[in-house]
Amino acid sequence: MAESLNEIDYLTAKSILQRELSEHNLIKNGQLTCPELVRDKGETRIEFPAPGLNRSSLYECLLIIKNHIEYFRIHSIDSNFLTLQALNNNLFDTQNITKNIKFRFLFYSGSTKVEISKQSNYLESEILAILELFQYVFREDQKSEINPKEILNRLGIEVFDPLEAEIKGKIIDFDHIFGYESVKNEILETIVMPLKNPDIFNQVTNLTRKFPTNNRPRAILFEGEPGVGKTTMAKAVACLCKIPLVYVPIESIMSKYYGESAKNLSMIFDCAQLFPEALIFLDEIDSLAGKREDGMFEATKTMLSVLLRKLDGFGGKPGSITLGATNRKQDLDSALLSRFDKSIYFPLPNLEEVSAILSGYAIHLNDSERNQISALLPEYSGRKIKDFCDYVERKWATGLIEKSLPPSPPPLKLYLDVAEKEKNGF
Ligand SMILES: Nc1ncnc2c1ncn2[C@@H]1O[C@H](COP(=O)(O)OP(=O)(O)OP(=O)(O)O)[C@@H](O)[C@H]1O
Ligand SMILES: [Mg+2]
Repeated sequence: MAESLNEIDYLTAKSILQRELSEHNLIKNGQLTCPELVRDKGETRIEFPAPGLNRSSLYECLLIIKNHIEYFRIHSIDSNFLTLQALNNNLFDTQNITKNIKFRFLFYSGSTKVEISKQSNYLESEILAILELFQYVFREDQKSEINPKEILNRLGIEVFDPLEAEIKGKIIDFDHIFGYESVKNEILETIVMPLKNPDIFNQVTNLTRKFPTNNRPRAILFEGEPGVGKTTMAKAVACLCKIPLVYVPIESIMSKYYGESAKNLSMIFDCAQLFPEALIFLDEIDSLAGKREDGMFEATKTMLSVLLRKLDGFGGKPGSITLGATNRKQDLDSALLSRFDKSIYFPLPNLEEVSAILSGYAIHLNDSERNQISALLPEYSGRKIKDFCDYVERKWATGLIEKSLPPSPPPLKLYLDVAEKEKNGF
């Protein structure tokens, strides 16, 4: 009688499990799966894949079950499977024990899984056992996933891996971003230092706080006009810290996976968590813009709420930071904005900075020549300056080919002529 008090009806059990389990995305072959409780021919059943489970972790599973279900016996055992059967509270009462909850662990190659079934409603303690078991199995699976980068790639998400970049000689560091010294200093202080020296940051906090907490940033926003170097800076941070950068283009996720966007975003965060340390770079975060009260589309709303939840989870992981980029900070949802510890502003380059950027794209010119050009490139972003230099070089190279001349760099005059024309709107 006491037991039936804790009995949970099928629909309630189903919704509890659904709610709790959907927090974790099981990623199998790049697919998202969420186990579900089903009722079939009087049997209530739930099963989930457990590729990370092995014989030694099986022992942990038994302890978890034991924690919630006092008595059980081995129903059947084989090299490929193990079935446990819960006993009645009165061990001498063997009536109907086959109707009690059963846990099966199957180890067939390629389909390691856990199946849980019962001939009647589950008890509260049994639901708790299922939840804890699932969480344990889920963690083991995460450990066994070898390559989060592969899964992300399959989802169409790029991962910039600094180690790979180093091998290919494609490292990006602060030297690749010309000018912007104060932005670099801010980034060094707020992101690079804490990521590279977590212990020292923690030790300082331990000496200052009554209740030591984490003082490292969880999320930082890069704000600035298009083409001012936000993405390049994120890659530089990844290289300086030797941490992979998971590139998440919010705009294209929203348009590409309409309806599935929130699920995909959630899965991307879960995959990124599988790296020991990672940077998530949320580009064009303003695609989620529109204040919540603006009557946003349902899909955008769901996406935003998933993002808020995932940002909280990801930020708690040591060695991982989310970077966001926007050129419309004023349009961001206030709850989203509040998740960012700090916003770093990338201004359009001033005259001196334009010259500094030119020093990277026109190395054959001297300072005074570069200053003459920069005077003609007002309000030019780094990208526009680079595009301008590309254009001048192409124009010059075409002329060399036409005149069968040997390679040489474009002269100052060509830069000035092109800049003058651009300025006059040609
Ligand atoms: N300060 C700079 N020094 C050298 N190159 C720069 C600088 N700023 C921008 N660039 C160049 O301009 C191009 C665009 O930069 P990037 O993609 O990082 O800009 P962004 O701010 O992310 O732009 P968007 O908002 O459009 O995404 C890159 O090729 C980058 O190398
Ligand atoms: Mg960018």
